[in-house]
Amino acid sequence: MSDIEQLVAQATAEFAGIDDAAALEQSKARYLGKSGSVTELLKNLGKLEPEQRKRAGAAINSAKERIEAALNGRREAIRLVALEGQLEAEALDVTLPGRGLPTGGLHPVTRTLERIEALFRSIGFDVADGPEIEDDFHNFTALNTPENHPARSMHDTFYLLDAPGLLLRTHTSPIQVRFMETHKPPIRVIAPGRVYRVDSDATHSPMFHQVEGLWIDEDVSFADLKGVFTDFLRNFFEKPDLRTRFRPSFFPFTEPSAEIDMSCVFCDGNGCRVCSHTGWLEIAGSGMVHPNVLKAVGIDSERYIGFAFGMGPDRLTMLRYGVNDLRLFFDGDLRFLSQFK
Ligand code: DAH
Repeated sequence: MSDIEQLVAQATAEFAGIDDAAALEQSKARYLGKSGSVTELLKNLGKLEPEQRKRAGAAINSAKERIEAALNGRREAIRLVALEGQLEAEALDVTLPGRGLPTGGLHPVTRTLERIEALFRSIGFDVADGPEIEDDFHNFTALNTPENHPARSMHDTFYLLDAPGLLLRTHTSPIQVRFMETHKPPIRVIAPGRVYRVDSDATHSPMFHQVEGLWIDEDVSFADLKGVFTDFLRNFFEKPDLRTRFRPSFFPFTEPSAEIDMSCVFCDGNGCRVCSHTGWLEIAGSGMVHPNVLKAVGIDSERYIGFAFGMGPDRLTMLRYGVNDLRLFFDGDLRFLSQFK
């Protein structure tokens, strides 16, 4: 084999053994570069006789072409292997289902409040709101609880240090007062909202919810209170046989006053752990609105009469969903909350 043919064989074999693009280009330089073997042969052509030069030139050019062809073939092969590797590494399964956006949900207590509002709206009640930072007048005085009245110590109140006379409302009853200040009887309203007391354990949170109710007209009786509230509870818990009982109690803003109990929704009144084996659950305070409260807002207490109640929707939510620790509602733990979506 001539030197030239040997060079072609050598280059082709060398290229074939290379898997790396950069190494291949270095190898190319050894044959086709400025001082590569083929280039050297071409440089020497000038020393030959014209006849010889023609043949040798043709042979060298042919060799150069074949070396270039081998080089290009190897380049392409290396490129394909690299591409395949990349495709495999970046493989994308377009048939996988999408991840989707997580959906939010309403807080369980919010669900309860909406349910309470819907039930009372259906019997003609308005829904009112009021400020969470209250003044002493609306939270206590107008509710027939004057200074030094022992009932003030029934509530452990958060007072605002820098604002004398202002406090975080301890109940939703001040909304009764505000509503009566701006509306004339007949009045039928409920008022849900957050209230605050210095209290914290498994059944008490310093912030909790209440729903106030108020019906004032010329002939509203205690029987109406019993009917409206019992009907509400039966609808709320979807238990037509649910029973209520009214226990005499005391609130400064009602006379007479009553604590409302309902038959336990877990044992239907037979006695279980939830109702401390009494068969009853305490659910609201209530009574006939005290004439002094009507007087404080300028409503004629000889002409108008009515009932009021205040209930705990957090407790209703615990009972409805079977939750045994009030704090779960306010810890903000999504593992708990997302179960109500
Ligand atoms: N405000 C009372 C409390 O927080 C609950 C209450 C009792 C509200 C009797 C009323 C009512 O409207 O008539 O303990």
